[in-house]
Amino acid sequence: MNISIRKMTLDDLPAVIEIDQLSFPNPWPKNSYRYEILENENSVCWVAGLEHFGAEKIIAMAVIWIILDEIHIGTIAIHPDFRNQGFGTIFLGKILSEAAKAGLERALLEVRRSNQAALNLYKRFGFEVDGIRKKYYQDNREDAILMSAPLAKKLISDSVSNVTNNGKEGEAL
Ligand SMILES: CC(C)(COP(=O)(O)OP(=O)(O)OC[C@H]1O[C@@H](n2cnc3c(N)ncnc32)[C@H](O)[C@@H]1OP(=O)(O)O)[C@@H](O)C(=O)NCCC(=O)NCCS
Repeated sequence: MNISIRKMTLDDLPAVIEIDQLSFPNPWPKNSYRYEILENENSVCWVAGLEHFGAEKIIAMAVIWIILDEIHIGTIAIHPDFRNQGFGTIFLGKILSEAAKAGLERALLEVRRSNQAALNLYKRFGFEVDGIRKKYYQDNREDAILMSAPLAKKLISDSVSNVTNNGKEGEAL
């Protein structure tokens, strides 16, 4: 299956918002993605699409913020029908490797303590725990785990290499 990873456009918003709503108990307000694409100059918004009967089906979305020499992963999700098939690894691998190529040094994020799928994905890319924010998430008072990883190109390519990737060459940051 051909996966194409590219920057998010306004035309992607219905699919992006659907993935957000299917993925998180507290999805972002719908106009946030529009703001991230059009107005936030620190933001880089990504999608991944699969070819489906000649059309592109958006299966993944992410928003990252570039702050000094770091990227902060604001949100990332794979459509529920396409999870646990390696797409998260390919998608995050592309985002991290573009950040590394752009000379950025480190990636940071926060994740719910119970989110085993995300923890597994992040550990694969060398993310380690920096700290805990107790009862951070308001909906269920769950702890947030703060994690970060160096953006070493070799580490990223090793992490993706054992997942089949027929992807096309995507865009740079
Ligand atoms: C987290 C998420 C992006 C992972 O994407 P994915 O496409 O399923 O990930 P992959 O198939 O590439 O798998 C990555 C790792 O997670 C593991 N994994 C995937 N789904 C899992 C699950 N339900 N339970 C436990 N581990 C899981 C895989 O086994 C793999 O681990 P490994 O490297 O040790 O083999 C996806 O589950 C998702 O969109 N979740 C909802 C949104 C979310 O939680 N985003 C993260 C917010 S911090």
